[in-house]
Amino acid sequence: MSVQRRPGKAKHDKDAFSDPPQVVRDAAAASSKRKGAHKLQRRLILLVTALAVAATLIYFDSLKRLFHTDVVKVKVTEPQAAAQPQSSRVVIPGDGISTGEEDDPFIVAELLGKGKGMLAIRDIEQGERIITEKPAIQAPDHIIGSPAAYIQKLLNETTPEVRKAILDLSYVNFPEDKDPKKDLDEVALAIFQTNAVATSGGVALFPRMARLNHGCSKAFNAVYTWRDNEKVLVVHALKKISAGEEILTTYGDTKRPRSERRETLKQYYGFDCTCSVCALPDNESLASDNRLLAIADGYAKFATWGSKNITGVEAVETARKIWAIEEEEGYWSERGRLAADVSYVAAAHSE
Ligand SMILES: *[C@@H]1O[C@H](CO)[C@@H](O)[C@H](O)[C@H]1NC(C)=O
Ligand SMILES: *[C@@H]1O[C@H](CO)[C@@H](O)[C@H](O)[C@H]1NC(C)=O
Ligand SMILES: *[C@@H]1O[C@H](CO)[C@@H](O)[C@H](O)[C@H]1NC(C)=O
Repeated sequence: MSVQRRPGKAKHDKDAFSDPPQVVRDAAAASSKRKGAHKLQRRLILLVTALAVAATLIYFDSLKRLFHTDVVKVKVTEPQAAAQPQSSRVVIPGDGISTGEEDDPFIVAELLGKGKGMLAIRDIEQGERIITEKPAIQAPDHIIGSPAAYIQKLLNETTPEVRKAILDLSYVNFPEDKDPKKDLDEVALAIFQTNAVATSGGVALFPRMARLNHGCSKAFNAVYTWRDNEKVLVVHALKKISAGEEILTTYGDTKRPRSERRETLKQYYGFDCTCSVCALPDNESLASDNRLLAIADGYAKFATWGSKNITGVEAVETARKIWAIEEEEGYWSERGRLAADVSYVAAAHSE
């Protein structure tokens, strides 16, 4: 039986969370098929490509790590009682909760109408690492036997501090026929399902990063990545975050119109999104939707370079267009990957 009650949870969901274009892989496959090139020329191209890729990797490695969110967050905030425009959010004094790390640049605080969230307590620079966290509990994608008992057992094996941090997390979609006061294993499972993040070997819970709330498009300012070689999850600032600002990530691909975003967030994560982009007046929201759709279309077109549907020049033009629209929209995520891919395209055309 699966721990995932609903589709799209704690997993890559190709539809909801589209991957960046795999042009690098496609290109490698395509170029290996190219025939007739002189050996020396081929070696030269290979060398140039290798050098360019190496330079690109070095140059963009940090950016890629920052911007490539290849882990899908499945955190759900508490359902919001009333739509609160971002500007009127108030921190309830005295509710700052220590996160146990003294040099954290944030506190977890109770936000009016929103449940708990993460607030920057000092200015955070773009690219700064905000959290490095090991999984508190980790489960495979599919569990044999009772998922609730499995998660409860994992929870039992944690330290009392970790257990408390986990049990303090919110959850949605609790089975109606169960009692949260009595069926503690079901509570553990619901918390896990609500907050877990896909890692390489399965699904894991990170109670510190689980406090990140969601924002759409330009509203989110932090991204998270599972680093498989280090076995840690890292959260980085995508943009400069000022003291007092809420740190937000995105629970999925937000390059979609507001109505679709709202529907998905409500259905899978149980809340009405009131982020600054969702709260835009209708005419501006429509303009934002059109930009987001244009960005998504641009990525789809860019990805066809690998199958030779567009030329290298067209691919680079498309990437430039994506970049410009993203600039206008304030959507910065995935740019490192885009830049690296464009460099690869240029290198493959020996430019
Ligand atoms: C977990 O611990 C609780 C309380 O000690 C115990 O009642 C329960 O049987 C344990 N569950 C599992 C699956 O280990
Ligand atoms: C939206 O409407 C407001 C007020 O009518 C106007 O000031 C603003 O420029 C419009 N924005 C767009 C993007 O059309
Ligand atoms: C690429 O072009 C071919 C032939 O024109 C077409 O059949 C195919 O669907 C295109 N692929 C993409 C990804 O656009």
